[in-house]
Amino acid sequence: SAAVLVQSYEPLTVNSRRRKIEDYCRDLVINNDHISRMEQRLRESIEKGLDKKTHDMASVKCFPTYVRELPSGHECGKFLALDLGGTNFRVVLIEIGENEKFEMDNEVYAISQDLMNGSGDDLFDHIASCLANFAKARKIDKEVLPLGFTFSFPCKQKGLAVGELISWTKGFSCKGVEGEDVVTLLKNAINKRGDIHVDVAAILNDTTGCLMSCAWKNHNCRIGLIIGTGTNACYLEDLEKVGLWDGDINNPKHVIVNTEWGAFGDHGELDFIVTKWDHRVDEGSINPGKQIFEKMISGMYMGEVVRQVLVDLVDEDLIFAKQPLENLRTRGRFYTKYVSEIESDQVGDYTQCREALKDLGMTNVTDEDCSALRHVCECVSRRAGFMVSAGITALLKKMDYKDVVVAIDGSVFRFHPHFENIMRSRIRQLMGTEYKFDLMLSTDGSGRGAALVAAVLMGECAI
Ligand code: GLC
Repeated sequence: SAAVLVQSYEPLTVNSRRRKIEDYCRDLVINNDHISRMEQRLRESIEKGLDKKTHDMASVKCFPTYVRELPSGHECGKFLALDLGGTNFRVVLIEIGENEKFEMDNEVYAISQDLMNGSGDDLFDHIASCLANFAKARKIDKEVLPLGFTFSFPCKQKGLAVGELISWTKGFSCKGVEGEDVVTLLKNAINKRGDIHVDVAAILNDTTGCLMSCAWKNHNCRIGLIIGTGTNACYLEDLEKVGLWDGDINNPKHVIVNTEWGAFGDHGELDFIVTKWDHRVDEGSINPGKQIFEKMISGMYMGEVVRQVLVDLVDEDLIFAKQPLENLRTRGRFYTKYVSEIESDQVGDYTQCREALKDLGMTNVTDEDCSALRHVCECVSRRAGFMVSAGITALLKKMDYKDVVVAIDGSVFRFHPHFENIMRSRIRQLMGTEYKFDLMLSTDGSGRGAALVAAVLMGECAI
C-alpha cells in the first residue's frame, strides 16, 4: 500500500526518531505550574482530612496516631517489633540503652502471594508462627516483652494499640481484615498458639517509625516520609488543628498525623497530570481507582509505568527493533530496580542499562535504544521526585517551624541515584530561602521506630 511505500522511502533518521520519542514522553513532564497546583490541592485535601466535618469525604485521611511524645534519647529496655507492609515481613529484637546503645537482631520472612491475597486468619497465623519461632530460637519465649507492630496500611486508630484497617494497599487483599482491629487479630493468633506471650504496646505506620527513629537523634525531625513499595508521609501537628482528635488535650499539645497521602488523587485531584500510561497501571492493579498519587511515585508501580510507555514506543516502531519482546510485554516484568540501575550509568555509558535489558532477554540493543530507554526512566522518576517534593512542601508550609528535618526511608529513595538531589533542589526552589529544611536518611524506622514508640511509653530509664 501507499503507506508502506512511504515508510520504506522515508525511514526515520536517528534524530527524528529521538524527537518523536521525546514528544511522546512530554505528557510525563510536569512544570512549575503543575507542581504548585498539586501542592495547593494537597494542602486543601489535608485540611479536609483533619476536619471532622469533611473527613469522611476526604481522599487524604490524616489519621491521628496517638503517638505524641518524640523520643528524648534516654529510652531503654528490650523490645520486640513486627514489620509488615513492605516487600518482606520481619521480626526484630531490639535493646536500647545508655550512650546511644541500639542493638538489633532480626529475621526476614517471605510473604507469599497466596498469603497476601488469602484469608486474614492465614496471614495472622503465619505472623504468629514466625514470631514464635524467632522467640524460641533466641530463648526469649518465656519472657513477656513489649511489642511494637509496624503495620504499614491505612488504619483508623482509637488508641495507641488499637488500629482498624480501612483498606489494604500495595497488593495485599486478605479477606476478613478490613474494618477489623488488627491488634486484636494479632493477639488472637498469638493466644491461639499458647506457646508465647507478648504485650502488644502499640501499632504504628512505617512513616511514624521512620520519624521516631530519626527524632531519637535529631530533635528538629518533624516529618516522616516513605518512598518504597508505597509512599506516605506523617508529620507532627498541633492538637488544635486536628479536628478529629478526641483524646485528652493535656501536654504535649501535638500528635503525629499519618496523612496516607498515597490516596491523594483518588477524587480526581491529579487528573490534570495523569497520563494514559498511569490509567493502564491503575486498571491493571488489584485496587483500581485507589492510591493514585502512590501509583505515580512508588516502587511497586514505577517500573510498570516505564514499561507501559516502552510498549507504546515499540508499537510505534521507535525502539527495540528486532528484539524479543515477550518479557517487555508482561505486566510487572519491568522492575523498578532497573530504573535505578539504568540511571546509575554515567551519561553515555550503558553498562547497567544493557544488563537490565539482558535480564529482559534483549541482547542486541543499540546505543540509541539505551539512550531512549534512559530518557523514559528519567521522565518517570523525575516526575515522581517532583510529586514527592510538592507533597513535602505542602507539609512544610503547614508547619510553624522554619527549620525542619524530614526523615526518609524506602527503596526508591535509597537506591535511585538521583532522587535525593531532585528532591533537595525542588523543595528548596518551592520553599524559598527563608526556610531551612534537611533530608535525613532513616535507618530501619520500622524496627527501631516500633521499639521507640513502645519505649517512650515506659518513660525514661533511671541512669
Ligand atoms: C501505603 C500504605 C501506607 C504506608 C505506605 C508506605 O501507602 O497505605 O500506610 O505508609 O504505603 O509503606
